[in-house]
Amino acid sequence: MNHSVCYISKAKDGLTALEIEDIFITTQTKNNGAGIKGILLFGFGNFFQVLEGEKKVIEDLYLNKICEDKRHFDILTIFNHQIKYPIFNAYSSEFNIVKTNAQLDSIKTYLNQNNLHHLSKNIQRMLNPFLL
Ligand SMILES: Cc1cc2nc3c(=O)[nH]c(=O)nc-3n(C[C@H](O)[C@H](O)[C@H](O)COP(=O)(O)O)c2cc1C
Repeated sequence: MNHSVCYISKAKDGLTALEIEDIFITTQTKNNGAGIKGILLFGFGNFFQVLEGEKKVIEDLYLNKICEDKRHFDILTIFNHQIKYPIFNAYSSEFNIVKTNAQLDSIKTYLNQNNLHHLSKNIQRMLNPFLL
C-alpha cells in the first residue's frame, strides 16, 4: 500500500447515469479483488479518484487502463508518488465509491481526524467543492 495516484477528469459529453454506474461497479469489483484502496466520486461532470496500493499495480491500472478510457478526458494528475502512510487503508476494508453527501462527510471527518500527513488535508480540501 505504498503508492498513491490522485487525479481529476471530465466525463465525456453525454455520459449517462447508467454508464457512470457501470464504471462504479467495475471499479469497486476489480479494486476489491486486487486489494486496491481509495475513493472514486463523480460530481458536476467531473471524476475525482484516489488510488492506493502496490506501485506496479497502481501505475499499470492508471496509465494503461484509466488514462486510456474514452469515458473521460482532460485527466489532470494531482499526484503520483510513493506514500509513507496509506490514507484509505484504515478507513475501510473496501474501495469506496462515494455516492452520497453522507458518505462524503464521513470521509472528510475521517481525513480531518486522521491527519496522517499533508495529503490528508489536501485531499480533504479537494473534496470540499463536491456535493453529490
Ligand atoms: C473515471 C474512471 C475511473 C476508473 N477507475 C477504475 C479503477 O479504479 N479500477 C479499475 O479496475 N477500473 C477502473 N476504471 C475502468 C477501467 O478504465 C477499465 O475499463 C476496466 O478496468 C476494465 O478493463 P479491462 O476490460 O481491460 O479488464 C475506471 C474508468 C473510469 C472512466
